[in-house]
Amino acid sequence: MGAKILRWREHDNEAVLQEAVAILARGGLLAIPTETVYGLAADAGNGEAVAAIFAAKGRPRFNPLIAHVADAAMAARCGRLEKGARRLVEAFWPGPLTLVVPLASGAPIHPLVTAGLDTVALRQPAGPSATLIARFGRPLAAPSANVSGRLSPTRASHVLAELGDKIEAVVDAGPCRVGLESTIVSLTGETPRLLRPGGLAAEEIEAALGEKLVRYRPGEAGNALQAPGMLASHYAPRARLRLSVAAVDEGEALLAFGPSLPANAAAARAMRNLSDKGDPVEAAANLFAFLRELDESGAPVIAVAPIPSAGLGEAINDRLARAAAPRPA
Ligand code: TXA
Ligand code: MG
Repeated sequence: MGAKILRWREHDNEAVLQEAVAILARGGLLAIPTETVYGLAADAGNGEAVAAIFAAKGRPRFNPLIAHVADAAMAARCGRLEKGARRLVEAFWPGPLTLVVPLASGAPIHPLVTAGLDTVALRQPAGPSATLIARFGRPLAAPSANVSGRLSPTRASHVLAELGDKIEAVVDAGPCRVGLESTIVSLTGETPRLLRPGGLAAEEIEAALGEKLVRYRPGEAGNALQAPGMLASHYAPRARLRLSVAAVDEGEALLAFGPSLPANAAAARAMRNLSDKGDPVEAAANLFAFLRELDESGAPVIAVAPIPSAGLGEAINDRLARAAAPRPA
């Protein structure tokens, strides 16, 4: 756990910014806080640094990464933002929305970031990271700062536990406000497509676009490239998950939602409630941290209460379904 902790404060982060920029400038790996999850960041224009991201995560293949930008102007140097994209940038950036758009010529982005595609995924994160990227002056490539296939980190401590010996430092700005990865929308085809539900509800995006998003369907023709977050098993804790339970079995851990608990809740070895009042936004912010805590209880199975799919519930249920899917051997 050799990584340094750079604590972000409300005021005067000059020393943190200088140290963080120095790490990025020499091609080092830096974990950064975003409102969604912590990211494992490096200079998007430095191929060796980007390769080090894949190595640190143990990503089995070179899947494309999101390029994080400081603002819309930096985004426009990386990708071609047409009408729909500009509208979404205006409405939701900084925020938990990633846009896949055609790659701009001369973009300061190494081909390893886009996996050689002629499209690029762009996002302006909120908070300290945008300040840091502005200071650095170039986009940062950053997947979630977890070992490939494991839960995304929503606290600096999660990052240190998994990647502490592989990164130079983590900028610690406390718990992530949203707690789910960004929603990914592709604007490269005739109609906007939802590649991954996430921290911004699809309904809000549709309202801003005045158009329905085409949902990704596994196996659908013409969908050769999907977000790898689309792999069936992803975001997995060690325990098995049992979803939409009506009753808890002896020895299971319980992930509850809302004021009414499943039957036999008292038999649970450990319990966390995503939101006592049944608020999907609060539930999203707690999801990954609570799954980790219940996993650490040592229970072989985590029983999960039913969660309605409206709003952020769509993304919560997406992550839970992936965590419950059969694992590759
Ligand atoms: O909230 C988030 O999105 C977090 C924080 C750190 O920003 N990042 C994150 O990154 O979740 P990652 O690498 O775990 O997921 C990025 C997703 C992948 O599923 C990848 O396939 C997709 O974005 N992606 C990246 N570039 C793409 C492209 N050109 N076309 C389609 N999908 C792309
Ligand atoms: Mg990830």
